[in-house]
Amino acid sequence: MSHNKYLEYFLNSRGNRDLIFNDTLNIFQSKPINILEIGAARSLDFYNRQGDGWSSLHYYQYIIKNGGTLTICDIDPKSISTCQELFANLETSNVKFVVEDGLKLINEHYDLIYLDGSDDPNDMVLQLNAINLSKQVVLCDDFHTKGSLAIKYHPNVIIYGWRDSGHRMGLYRPNYLRSEIYIKQIQ
Ligand SMILES: C[S@@+](CC[C@H](N)C(=O)[O-])C[C@H]1O[C@@H](n2cnc3c(N)ncnc32)[C@H](O)[C@@H]1O
Repeated sequence: MSHNKYLEYFLNSRGNRDLIFNDTLNIFQSKPINILEIGAARSLDFYNRQGDGWSSLHYYQYIIKNGGTLTICDIDPKSISTCQELFANLETSNVKFVVEDGLKLINEHYDLIYLDGSDDPNDMVLQLNAINLSKQVVLCDDFHTKGSLAIKYHPNVIIYGWRDSGHRMGLYRPNYLRSEIYIKQIQ
């Protein structure tokens, strides 16, 4: 594999969401999985390892190690080309970049769907309505804003948070029947 400075930085640093990505990916016990990420990396600043998250690199690491596919979509072609640059020189035969509204791509082919697109809370409700929550795992970023309506219609969610910030993430797991809040102190 050729050099990629973003992956190198990613692997040598800690992100505030790492623990939650690990918890989510551990659900699949190293089996090959198909992942859909809605909302692509829109900045290559190293700060964005913390900011937006560069989440695609977490998913990429998983499928490189265990097999599977990663589909990354965004309605904004600029975010898709930025995200393609994030993957420069990496082996991407199992990674697809698609300019599209994420809602249109949701189907049961995906084992894990990451919702990190629109800021309109109605959109996360529509996306969750289209997902088979009895089979598919869904991780949502910015659950305190993008997910503020989702919790009303789909309340069986594990909410992850931080003591020192209002940022929340939501994790939907099949057969998970109660809402729980994990407050993690992450520095
Ligand atoms: C916060 S960024 C995603 C960050 C990325 N997941 C990361 O970890 O770095 C949000 C992106 O979602 C895109 N977006 C907004 N609505 C969308 C939709 N309906 N479908 C797909 N992408 C959407 C925006 O264009 C923007 O690029």
